[in-house]
Amino acid sequence: MKKQSIVIAGGGSTYTPGIVMMLLDNLDKFPIATLKLYDNDPERQGVLAKALELVLKEKAPDIAFSYTTDPREAFENIDFCMAHIRTGQYRMRELDEKIPLKYGVLGQETCGPGGIAYGMRSIGDMIELIDYMEKYSPNAWMLNYSNPAAIVAEACRVLRPKAKVINMCDMPVGTLRRMSQIIHKEPKELTVNYFGLNHFGWWTSVRDTEGHEYLSEIREYVAEHGYLTQIEVDTQHMDQSWQETHKKAKDLLAVAPEFLPNTYLKYYLYPDYVVEHANPEYTRANEVMAGREKQVFDAARKIVATGSFREGDFHIDNHALFIVDLARAIAFNTGERMLLIVENNGAIANFRADAMVEVPCIVGSSGPEPLCQGTIPTFHRGMMEQQVAVEKLIVEAWVEGSYQKMWQALTLSKTVPSAKVAKELLDELIEVNREFWPELH
Ligand code: NAD
Ligand code: G6P
Ligand code: MN
Repeated sequence: MKKQSIVIAGGGSTYTPGIVMMLLDNLDKFPIATLKLYDNDPERQGVLAKALELVLKEKAPDIAFSYTTDPREAFENIDFCMAHIRTGQYRMRELDEKIPLKYGVLGQETCGPGGIAYGMRSIGDMIELIDYMEKYSPNAWMLNYSNPAAIVAEACRVLRPKAKVINMCDMPVGTLRRMSQIIHKEPKELTVNYFGLNHFGWWTSVRDTEGHEYLSEIREYVAEHGYLTQIEVDTQHMDQSWQETHKKAKDLLAVAPEFLPNTYLKYYLYPDYVVEHANPEYTRANEVMAGREKQVFDAARKIVATGSFREGDFHIDNHALFIVDLARAIAFNTGERMLLIVENNGAIANFRADAMVEVPCIVGSSGPEPLCQGTIPTFHRGMMEQQVAVEKLIVEAWVEGSYQKMWQALTLSKTVPSAKVAKELLDELIEVNREFWPELH
């Protein structure tokens, strides 16, 4: 097996240590020659990088490790860029979540006006990363987690259609883990069918290795408990607010009981509930800053201060697991089946061909090949048509600098009650996003 060279873009991400730990755990299956971190915030990245340098020295001294803010150094001689950047950092996420609440609209990282604002910030930075990769390592692949993945994926389709970029999400993997608990299986034993957009989809089948179908059994459980299970391992999606989200899946199922819903549908089906349960002074961004961010950065500072690393300081999470499986599939042509965000082109037969959809794909060294999911019902299709139009309008607005299209995107979002509120929101979002958004006219 050829040893791989990797750059993690967004080296200062709270998820970087988890990905590195996962890479170290899989060196027998995915050997690594070089590991680099790249970020545009040297202080933030430096804290994690100094700790990871010690970890690597101890656990894998043969890997050449470095960190940089220089694009050339970062992107030269790589096989993969694993990207998880956050343009504007948590400071802007907090505003994305708090500004809509002032107008009685939900505030969320990737859904509704917050997600739209974040999308307008992410597009330029993601295109910049792709261009660096294509300039310095034209054969490399980018595995992208950076959000909002739906909008980033549409921007890639429109602006860099030939680029070797795969956009993906860990929510289906995380929820499948919960499903596997419900039916007493391991996630790797299960094969699913699924259709939708990113953070906007449904499972239509969950089968085991013998082909037994578990959809109705899982539906019965979800109708009562949502996806709440006894997962006790310290990992992602465990905070109280996430537990509420897992539980709320039962109300999502009630609306369209034939398929199992992605938890993110709560923002579109029950926006009023989400607003009523929000604290405008303390949103998820505050929870993350006080929780995951603090834990990860405290652990890194401790490792550097004591000069030693203890197992358990950094955790492997399902976010990391998925990204390593995907990299392996491309590097070694494993033909693994995974849910990815790809251009529809008939995978969902009665949905627009030019939509970026999330469906199962077979992944090999030439990238993902989508599997046909057949036709979908009117309800699901209607919701998806509306949402995909929002995502397309945002990218058009970014490309054209169009105020009108941004206003339309916000107006069309199922989370916003009227064109009036959409306009008020847009005007405030423009003000706070001046340094990140293109100028709109
Ligand atoms: P974070 O703020 O801790 O990390 C992001 C890092 O990116 C920061 O260190 C920041 O300085 C850096 N950055 C910002 N712009 C950059 C640029 N142009 N070039 C290089 N680096 C840049 O955020 P986080 O909570 O760890 O999340 C990271 C990203 O991963 C977010 O976009 C988040 O939404 C995404 N994410 C996606 C999924 C998924 O399902 N697709 C799952 C988890 C996280
Ligand atoms: C899930 C989603 C990601 C999202 C993350 C937010 O994993 O799939 O797209 O970024 O949740 O988690 P957080 O803990 O930052 O709110
Ligand atoms: Mn996601």
